[in-house]
Amino acid sequence: MKAGKNKKGPSLFGVVGRQGASIADFSYSDALKQAGLSWTPEQLDAYIAHPKKVVAGGKMKYDGLDDAAARADLIAYLASIH
Ligand code: HEM
Repeated sequence: MKAGKNKKGPSLFGVVGRQGASIADFSYSDALKQAGLSWTPEQLDAYIAHPKKVVAGGKMKYDGLDDAAARADLIAYLASIH
């Protein structure tokens, strides 16, 4: 969650409202780069629920979170990190 600190995934600092694939020093998949996403709460909800459905060919190794209330809590948390 630290600004500028990528790990297996890109830093999620300030991700709510950010353009997809916009961290300059992170090596994104071509699929995510070409998806042209903007991380609105709605788009994040869909991605976290089923990453591979939203970005087929993306490289996030996460099967998805089925629990809608848990996703809402997670997105509220992400929105608080700026
Ligand atoms: C609930 C947990 C997770 C959330 C909320 C989450 C969220 C995100 C978001 C919003 C992006 C796109 C960021 C951007 O466009 O800059 C992303 C990308 C990515 N995440 Fe996750 N992530 C989670 C779990 C994981 C896990 C467990 C891994 C791997 C161990 C992972 C690895 C990646 C990778 C590699 C990408 C780049 C995908 C690509 O280029 O196609 N993430 N993640």
